[in-house]
Amino acid sequence: MHLNIENIRKDFPILTQEVYGKPLVYLDNAATTQKPLSVIRKIDEVYSTINANIHRGVHYLSQMATESHEEARKTVRQYIHAASSKEIIFTSGATESINLVASSFCRSQCKPGDEIILTTMEHHANIIPWQIQRDITGIELKVVPVTETGEIRLEDIEELISSKTKLISLAHVSNVLGTINPITEVIRLGHSYNIPVLIDAAQSVQHIHLDVQALDCDFLVFSSHKMYGPTGVGILYGKENWLDKLPPYQGGGEMIAHVTFAKTTFNELPFKFEAGTPDYVGSTALGEAIRYIEKLGLDNIRRYEEHLLHYATEKLLQIDGMQIIGTSKHKSSVISFLVGGIHPYDMGMLLDRLGIAVRTGHHCAQPLMDALGIEGTLRASFAFYNTKEEVDILVEGIKRVAKMF
Ligand SMILES: Cc1ncc(COP(=O)(O)O)c(C=O)c1O
Repeated sequence: MHLNIENIRKDFPILTQEVYGKPLVYLDNAATTQKPLSVIRKIDEVYSTINANIHRGVHYLSQMATESHEEARKTVRQYIHAASSKEIIFTSGATESINLVASSFCRSQCKPGDEIILTTMEHHANIIPWQIQRDITGIELKVVPVTETGEIRLEDIEELISSKTKLISLAHVSNVLGTINPITEVIRLGHSYNIPVLIDAAQSVQHIHLDVQALDCDFLVFSSHKMYGPTGVGILYGKENWLDKLPPYQGGGEMIAHVTFAKTTFNELPFKFEAGTPDYVGSTALGEAIRYIEKLGLDNIRRYEEHLLHYATEKLLQIDGMQIIGTSKHKSSVISFLVGGIHPYDMGMLLDRLGIAVRTGHHCAQPLMDALGIEGTLRASFAFYNTKEEVDILVEGIKRVAKMF
């Protein structure tokens, strides 16, 4: 099936507007995606018809809202093919999901001197939570280097593995380089040494079909807002035997079985990790976003976005002084680049005046910038609603701005 982009764009009201008198060209999808009307309407519908706090009430509205939240959990389970809904924890985002694992895992599984392996291309969300635990529990961090093309090599990971390695945590897709990391092989490698693996799928779950059982990953995290769903909702997938073993992350309502001042026992999965009132409106709307993605078909989305990626790469490379940062053979629809000596911030500001929204800066990946010896990049990231015409507008915009310098 070919995607009908013209029709798809009609589902995204924000895309029809002009900024500074120019049609909006939104190419900042790796930061957050726009929302289809069905998701926007779902939020309205929940607040207008069934809003009530969940899991606690005997009354009709509370039961309806609970059902809606738990249905969304099933939708997520099925989307990533988890074995059980108990393995789907709602959080506030990929960031909170990683903080949860880092805190619960290091507290219960690590002793001073134990090691966690990360890669140089990680987003700060997959660095700082481990550094915080390093300061609390005395673990050490080992970092896999990136190659010139922006890839990681299995042999470099294997070299860092020792008897003290407790976990490998890495991005499936780099938010800067677009590199699709060989996670199947990394997970297999980790498991051959009995080491669990966490996959940060924040930049892949909206582009690539994920099957957590086939992958056999131990943990996988992502954010709703990067997959056409609302902000404030994220997912932690964890294998049931790991989640059973790990202590709660936060305390509060919902996550308990019985409380006395002397001792508290905890609720069963997944509720043990969901303290307080969850964002049941957001979760329901995330379910709607997943239905939207599934209606288009992830395979169709992937094929179309690959086509856009290749078209954009080819066109951008025709510009004088163009340097693309991240040239892996396996890339998602993210292109970081620099043009001549022009500062990315200056270029980004001037492109904005032409109605073109791209990202500039370090993209929450300062260690990667240090490794590449640059301060930052411009980044264009594509979604299925972007078009070749928009790529052309970007290319013409860059040429026009470059002439000013
Ligand atoms: C690879 C990666 N991991 C984690 C995150 C953090 O996501 P959030 O800010 O939604 O928690 C991002 C956000 O850009 C990301 O690109």
